[in-house]
Amino acid sequence: MWLKNRFVQKLGGGWLESFGLRTWSNLQFASLSSRKDAEVIRILREIHREKRSLLSAFEQYIVYALGKAQSKKYDGAFAEVGVYKGASARLLCEVKGDKPLHLFDTFEGLPEAAEQDRQVHRQGQYAYGLEDVQKYLSNYANVHYHKGLFPESAVDVPVQSYAFAHFDVDLYEGTLGCLEYFYPKMIHGGIMLSHDYSLLAGVEQAFTEFFADKPEEVIDLPTTQCLVFKL
Ligand SMILES: C[S@@+](CC[C@H](N)C(=O)[O-])C[C@H]1O[C@@H](n2cnc3c(N)ncnc32)[C@H](O)[C@@H]1O
Repeated sequence: MWLKNRFVQKLGGGWLESFGLRTWSNLQFASLSSRKDAEVIRILREIHREKRSLLSAFEQYIVYALGKAQSKKYDGAFAEVGVYKGASARLLCEVKGDKPLHLFDTFEGLPEAAEQDRQVHRQGQYAYGLEDVQKYLSNYANVHYHKGLFPESAVDVPVQSYAFAHFDVDLYEGTLGCLEYFYPKMIHGGIMLSHDYSLLAGVEQAFTEFFADKPEEVIDLPTTQCLVFKL
């Protein structure tokens, strides 16, 4: 765990992270382009070129593909906690159809870290303004913004059934808050997907603790992500 945190601390948030991600994603796009639908790859590449995303090409593809499947098959709203510049939110906008999408972020960057994350990130890291994200996603309908610390920022949100929830908050307490809030609100067959599960020890710990007494399995993907299907 310590080693994993130290590795991320060295990479996190700086030019090395974005350079590494861009290089890695270009290789992944070469692989995806030879096998996947050209229109989907065009959208993913466009988002990648905008340099807003902290997801690799494979991770973007997973968000897109799962979101598309959920949108086709199920009723229920979409949500994301951890929006930053709106790149993964745009992926959700592309696939959600007319479903509501609820976006939660401080829009002031990461909150103070708990003991589990102390070595990983800086408070205020990934700060990006709400107005800029609203402008970026202004072409998409039925998108709802909730500024503030999650889960407190969700107290007035009336939605009780979600088909897809994407978490990307980097920290133990935030991830645990996502699971406690969304788990009871996920429809049967609903998907909770998290970024950084196999990269950030606090994220993994939150999933491990939360699902210790639940019937669902946490599925560890070959990217940094994990997912859970609500039974
Ligand atoms: C890594 S960035 C998200 C990246 C984004 N999903 C993307 O695809 O580029 C993490 C975001 O989580 C937000 N965040 C972390 N903990 C939070 C919390 N408890 N409540 C609200 N926002 C939080 C930060 O403000 C930051 O914008």
